Amino acid sequence: AKTHYHDFVVQETKVTRLCKTQTVMTVNGQLPGPTLEVNNGDSLVINVVNRAKDNVTIHWHGVRQITTAWADGPEFVTQCPIKPGGSYTYRFTISGQEGTLWWHAHSSWVRATVYGALVIRPKEGDSYPFPKPKRESVVVLGEWWNANPLDVIRQAMRTGGGPNTSDAFTINGQPGDLYNCSKKDTVIVPVDSGETILMRVINAALNQQLFYKIANHQFTVVGADASYVKPFTTSVLMLGPGQTTDVLIKADQPPARYYIAGRAYASAQGVPFDNTTTTAILEYKTAPCPAKGGSSNPVMPSLPAYNDTATATTFSTSFRSPKKANVPTDIDVNMFITAGLGLLQCPQGAPASTCQAPNRTRFTASMNNVSFVLPSNFSILQAHHLGVPGVFTTDFPANPPVTFDYTGNVPRSLWQPIRSTKVYKLKYGEKVQIVLQGTNISTAENHPIHLHGYDFYILAEGFGNYNPATDTSKFNLVDPPLRNTASLPVGGWAVIRFVADNPGTWIMHCHLDVHIGWGLATVFIVDDGPELSQKLQKPPADLPVC
Ligand code: C2O
Repeated sequence: AKTHYHDFVVQETKVTRLCKTQTVMTVNGQLPGPTLEVNNGDSLVINVVNRAKDNVTIHWHGVRQITTAWADGPEFVTQCPIKPGGSYTYRFTISGQEGTLWWHAHSSWVRATVYGALVIRPKEGDSYPFPKPKRESVVVLGEWWNANPLDVIRQAMRTGGGPNTSDAFTINGQPGDLYNCSKKDTVIVPVDSGETILMRVINAALNQQLFYKIANHQFTVVGADASYVKPFTTSVLMLGPGQTTDVLIKADQPPARYYIAGRAYASAQGVPFDNTTTTAILEYKTAPCPAKGGSSNPVMPSLPAYNDTATATTFSTSFRSPKKANVPTDIDVNMFITAGLGLLQCPQGAPASTCQAPNRTRFTASMNNVSFVLPSNFSILQAHHLGVPGVFTTDFPANPPVTFDYTGNVPRSLWQPIRSTKVYKLKYGEKVQIVLQGTNISTAENHPIHLHGYDFYILAEGFGNYNPATDTSKFNLVDPPLRNTASLPVGGWAVIRFVADNPGTWIMHCHLDVHIGWGLATVFIVDDGPELSQKLQKPPADLPVC
C-alpha cells in the first residue's frame, strides 16, 4: 500500500461561467478540485492550507475513517474550522472500500465550489468484479450560482426564507453547450467504437437530486458509494447529493456525438428548483467532424419529467449487494427517526424581514422534532474526548415525541421543533436499526440522508407511514445494498442497519445543504471498543481550535 501526499490550497479564485465572473473559493484554483486516485488499502496525507477569506474544513465523503474520526471534517462535529491563514493535515487510510467517493468542504455552503472526486481502485494485484475497462471517466455533477453561494445561504438564514435556486447544473464544473456562454468549454468524453468504459458519476450538487442519461446508450450499474452491486441495466440514473454510481457503458452505437445530460428530480410540489439541463458530450473518435463553426448536433436523450417519482423509485430500489450480505440481526438499538421540514412561528416583535417563509414564519427542519444546532465554541468530538461539559446533551430521542400521521396533512402546531445540540450515544459494537420516516409538515420532499463514518444496509423503503406490522415483511435480509447515503422517498420511509464499530462522533444529515442549515441532522457518539485497534486515535497536534 502507498501513501499519497497532497497540498490543498484553499483560495479565492476568479471563475467565469455563464459569461459572468465571480470570485469563489477553490482548491488549488481548480473547479472542480483535484481528483484523488488511490488503491484500496492506501493512505492519504492531505495538507489543507486556508488562504481564502472564509472558514473551511474538508470532508472525505464516504471514507469510513476507522479510528480516525479527527480526519472526518464536518465543522463543529469532528473539528473546529480551519480559519483564514490556518492549516490542518488530514491523515487517513482507505480500508475495504472500492469504487468512487468524493471530497467536499463541510462548512456553510463552501462545498458549492470546493469539491472533487476520490477514485478508489482495487488493491495492486486485485481485479474488478467485471472485465477491466481500458478507459475510465469521472463525471462530477454540480450546481453554479451567478452570485457567491455563501451570500445566497447567508441571505436565506437571515430572512428565514428559502435560498435562491442555482443558475445552472454543471458537469465537471461546466454548464455545457445548451448555454451559448459556455459552449466552447463543454466537457467531451471520448470513446472508441466497440469499447466499454467505466464511468464514475458523482452528485456534488448542493440542493438537488438529479436524473442522468446518455442518448441512445444503456448503463450497466456496477457500484455505488464505493461498494460493488449486483449489475443491472438502466437507461437513466437518479442520484441524490452525496451519492455516487459507477456504470459500464458500451460504445455500441453508430460513431457520432451523443449528449450526456443531467436535470433535476424535484420531488416536492410547489418548491422552486433549477429546471435547466446540463450537458457534456460522449464523442466517438471516428465520429464525422463537426462542420467548421457550425453545430455538430449531438443526439439528445429524453430525460424523465422533473417530478417522475416512479422512475426515481424504480432506479433506487434496483440495488442489491453482489453476494449474500452480512446484515446485522438481533438488533440492540431500534430507532425511529422522523426527517422533514417545518415552519417556525416568528417571535412577537421580530422584524418582518426575518420572517420570509409563508405566513410570518421561518423555515426549519428537524429529526424527531429536534432542529440540530452545531456548537460554536468546540467540536463535539473535542468536547467528548476532553470531557468538556455544556457543548451538547445526550438526550436525542430514539423515537418521535408525539406520534401522528407523518405523511398526512396535519397542523403545524403539533410539531414545533426544539433548537438544540442533542446527540445519541451508542456503545461499541451495538447493532443499530433506524427507521427513517419522512414527514409532510410544510412540504413533503425526498431527503438524501447521509451517515458519516459508516456504510449501512438499506433493507426496504416505501411510501406513506412506516407500519411495523406489515413493512418488516418487506425487509431484504439477503442482499440489500450497502450505501452511505439513502434516498428517503418523498412522503415515505426507509430502514437502515449498521454495526456501531467505529469510535467517534458521526453526523447524520440530509445532504440537501439548505436542510442542514435548517437543522435536519443529528450526531451519534460511538464509544471506544475494548481492543487498541478499536479505539479513537489521539487528536493530531495541528487540530484547529475554535
Ligand atoms: Cu457529503 Cu456530511 O457530507
